[in-house]
Amino acid sequence: MSYSELLVTSLEMAADKMDDITEQVYALYFKASPESRDLMGHMDMLMCGRMLNEVITLIIMPDNDLEVTLKFEVKTHAANGVDLNMYLLLFNALHSVIRTTVGDGWNPEFELAWKERVDYLCGVINTP
Ligand code: HEM
Repeated sequence: MSYSELLVTSLEMAADKMDDITEQVYALYFKASPESRDLMGHMDMLMCGRMLNEVITLIIMPDNDLEVTLKFEVKTHAANGVDLNMYLLLFNALHSVIRTTVGDGWNPEFELAWKERVDYLCGVINTP
């Protein structure tokens, strides 16, 4: 399976097991980044869900479409006080919830694909 097939398959396997991972992801994220909880205090679960959908879209988006979209998000978010280091924590929370939700079906190839994708996204985010 290719790198992007592994990402999509792991997301599909998680979706088969749980309808909505939004609450789990933000619970984990806010534990790792209380500053993010403060910044997002005015957002309800619907807004948080829309943001998470956009994050998942970036996880599976082809690389050639990614840079412009991601840089745009980083720029608009910076105006809301979002620091670059918060992105890794958010991606890690999503990765962790997907891994836990997939459970026994999780394998080292999924793990590697997620690690590489998160590294790639953070590389784009941290490149001026
Ligand atoms: C690549 C990662 C991210 C993507 C794709 C993304 C995407 C989005 C989207 C689509 C919205 C609008 C939600 C709506 O429909 O109402 C939003 C809002 C917001 N996001 Fe993110 N987000 C990301 C990372 C983060 C991070 C790391 C933080 C840190 C706390 C953050 C904080 C916020 C806040 C505070 C808002 C609300 C802004 C407002 O009040 O208008 N986001 N995000």
